Amino acid sequence: MSENAGGQRWWQGAVLYQLYVRSWLDTDGDGYGDLAGIIARLDYLCWLGVDGIWLSPTMPSPDEDWGYDVSGYRGVHPDLGSLEDLGRLIAEAGARGLKVLLDLVPNHTSTAHPWFVDAAGSRDARHRGYYVWADPAPGGGPPNNWVDATGRPAWTWHGPTGQYYLHLFLDSQADLNWHEPAVHAEFEQIVRYWFDRGVAGFRIDVANGLYKDAKLRDNPPAAAPDRLGARFGQQMKYSANRPETHAVFRDWRQIAEGYRPPRLLLGETWVGDLGSLAGFYGHDDELQLAFNFPFVFARFTAQDLSRVVGATLARLPAGACPAWTASNHDVGRFPTRWCGGDERKVRLALLVLATLPGTTVLYYGDEIGMTDVAVPPALRRDKMSREGDGWEGSRDRARTPMQWDGSPSAGFTADGVTPWLPCGDAAARNVAGQRRDPRSVLRFCRALLDLRRAEFAGTVARYEMLPAPEGQWAYRVGGLTVVANFSGWPAALPCPAGEVLLSTAERPSPRAPLGAWEGVISRT
Ligand code: NOJ
Repeated sequence: MSENAGGQRWWQGAVLYQLYVRSWLDTDGDGYGDLAGIIARLDYLCWLGVDGIWLSPTMPSPDEDWGYDVSGYRGVHPDLGSLEDLGRLIAEAGARGLKVLLDLVPNHTSTAHPWFVDAAGSRDARHRGYYVWADPAPGGGPPNNWVDATGRPAWTWHGPTGQYYLHLFLDSQADLNWHEPAVHAEFEQIVRYWFDRGVAGFRIDVANGLYKDAKLRDNPPAAAPDRLGARFGQQMKYSANRPETHAVFRDWRQIAEGYRPPRLLLGETWVGDLGSLAGFYGHDDELQLAFNFPFVFARFTAQDLSRVVGATLARLPAGACPAWTASNHDVGRFPTRWCGGDERKVRLALLVLATLPGTTVLYYGDEIGMTDVAVPPALRRDKMSREGDGWEGSRDRARTPMQWDGSPSAGFTADGVTPWLPCGDAAARNVAGQRRDPRSVLRFCRALLDLRRAEFAGTVARYEMLPAPEGQWAYRVGGLTVVANFSGWPAALPCPAGEVLLSTAERPSPRAPLGAWEGVISRT
């Protein structure tokens, strides 16, 4: 199945675009982005040159975690629009050759979901077994030492039925019990429901977390600080990362491959070791794409990034398609994390993202170099950031309105309407201004995507690292040579031979050595 017969593996070589719906474009003046706003800007996305969009959660939800607390898996959140709007969006996107992926949240539901409401009704309720309930520990208190995403115990006491329920995120997000066959049956129907409606695939939330240890054993302490494998000093050995989860994806993959074109399963695989990451591809029978967080959290150096890329490609099974991203609604924006707002570095990062083999996922605003926004405590909307976290710790920093123009509301909403989160530096960085400026980051990004499509569409290009002095990264990918200077001084490495197709900077002469933070793509 690894060859791309008839372009069936449409995600290979593609660029997907993560669109945080509530922050994209508000068309009804309530301060929240909506589905109509996405339809209104499909032409922009086509102009930019992306192949598909992944929408942050669109399903009904009390919004304790902005849609990651689902209260109905077959609908659309009324703040965003209706099922008809989503149908229209899929049709209008399809007419432009754009795929639409939804965010699927199978690890937990909102406690407002009818399944949980029923389950909480009595110990023998029909849906009781859909969730993870447990008696107190022998000495009293929570059944084990697991902690939730806020650092508190992952168990909440439910007085009326005299048991604890599990929640690995907020206490309003009850974890589903994947040991229960009926949960599998429910999700298989949900997956088909959306595929039947033309949804091109799912980004799967907490993909490594679905199953929990059947014996609910205590998590061991983490040996060392580990952002991906540990939580508040605990190794997430029993509360996530269980081997049984792979069977779920094998089932869903069969469903996905039964559609034409095949539907895509893109996992939020929050794992630190690349062997585990590779495991999510199975024998080409699980996820077709798995997010690579070691890449996201690598330092912005030639050495670290090239090491992660090389090690990833070495670990992935033959024919597997890597997925690269650098920003999202949880981890923040790369123009801040990697680049400290330095536009030279932003261009270099975009050049690398656009030339890596596999699938690249951009986050809305990456293309104009949008940076994280310091959201004052009084305006924060994310309940998962903790008291005392500075603004860098609040996920709101990367969820602010798309900067369409330089007006006070950034062109996101009507004048006089308060957006749900404050706007960033829209006067300095916005789509309208950058579209007009042939030297802008946006125009550069568009040129990169153009080149990527022409060179890589439908394939996972062959990647080969080339020798380079410290601070520089050189590689051949498909028919291109890329040289990237990750240093603030001119590169020792000469500009590659062959025609220079794109550079992050103005080149004084075709063969001039690379300048500080310059990257060059040439044809070999
Ligand atoms: C990962 C999502 O990306 C994040 O935003 C959310 O809070 C958790 N999963 C829980 O669903």
